[in-house]
Amino acid sequence: MTAVAQTPISMTGRDRLLAAARGEPVDVTPVWYMRQAGRCLPEYRALRERHPFMEVAHTPDLAVEATLMPVERFGVDGAVLFADIMLPLGGMGVPFRMEPKVGPVIDAPIRTRADVERIVIADADEATGYVMDALRLLRRELGGRAAALGFSGAPFTLACYLIEGHGSREYPRAKALMYGDPETWHLLMAKLTEVVTRYLTAQIAAGADAVQLFDSWLGLLGTEAYREFVAPYTTRIFAALRSLAPTIHFSTGTTHLLDQIAATGPDLVSVDWRLPLDEAWSRLAPGQGIQGNLDPTLLMGGWDVTRRAAEDILRRTAGRSGHIFNLGHGILPETDPDVLTQLTAYVHGAGAPFEVDQAGN
Ligand code: CP3
Repeated sequence: MTAVAQTPISMTGRDRLLAAARGEPVDVTPVWYMRQAGRCLPEYRALRERHPFMEVAHTPDLAVEATLMPVERFGVDGAVLFADIMLPLGGMGVPFRMEPKVGPVIDAPIRTRADVERIVIADADEATGYVMDALRLLRRELGGRAAALGFSGAPFTLACYLIEGHGSREYPRAKALMYGDPETWHLLMAKLTEVVTRYLTAQIAAGADAVQLFDSWLGLLGTEAYREFVAPYTTRIFAALRSLAPTIHFSTGTTHLLDQIAATGPDLVSVDWRLPLDEAWSRLAPGQGIQGNLDPTLLMGGWDVTRRAAEDILRRTAGRSGHIFNLGHGILPETDPDVLTQLTAYVHGAGAPFEVDQAGN
């Protein structure tokens, strides 16, 4: 790593991340980590000892405090708002709670046509104004140090939770409803699409610089089911947001769906570690950016293993623009935060991704 000392850091974290999201040149590769705001930080655990999860999420001061923790500690270029993929459900008339170590639980799941018909499509500022207040405060507090990243669960992943009532390996009830009662499924997806579109549009209006759509359970679907039951709704969301802010699609275990995901139209596709970065990139649309793709379990193997994997990822970009460095999925709770600090410095110290290209041309 002889280049570390010479690397010209000339952009703010916010400008760097947004330039990469638009496919424009950057001084060094921007980096942030999924689930950086909770999971492995002792200062987050201390905050949680004083306040339950929902209180932190619903109180802008506390949510911003948690959001800034990884920005301070890791030096990342993106500040993902402390929130959860489930929060847009708050305005839909479907109560849920967050069970420690388990995740979201819905005591009265959505199982029938009548349940779906009762779902409310609310105004996002009225239903989730606390998220918008937190984003406004976050933008002020960041002052350009990092990009403010908003997010939502995607309709399919939200439908999985709504129907199943809790996290699951296979989501059998959700998939049974999808295959067995497609009309009800499509009505639910159409309603969720409207809710998510309004929610993300309001986040951008409140100050989110870019937004990520988390479709965490998408890997459960085959190509035909994705085409029929999910892709049209994802496409609708990205079409509605296109002129407002950069968009990132997230999923995992979806190597078989990459070209279809790309075709739904996000500016960047977040990919997991199952394919090398360059191979995944070759499956995306021309000009589309990529986010990823370090296996989060690698961080537990210590710094040398992590550094080699990061170096490989950066090498595979081959100087192309449009890469945001991230993990392929969220940080694991056992991760040593110091390795993430080191990793950020390493990615920033590796130099401009375009040096190779410019020298070669
Ligand atoms: O980076 C961040 O931490 C920002 C905020 C954030 C949270 N959840 C906070 C949270 C983000 C981006 C999420 C996304 C999320 N939530 C996803 C998509 C990402 C993925 O992993 O696929 C999913 C599936 C959820 C649902 C969820 N929320 C689960 C399964 C759990 C329990 C297990 C866990 O991850 O801890 C949650 C709770 C949750 N969401 C916590 C945090 C900080 C833990 C709550 C606590 O402190 O007890």
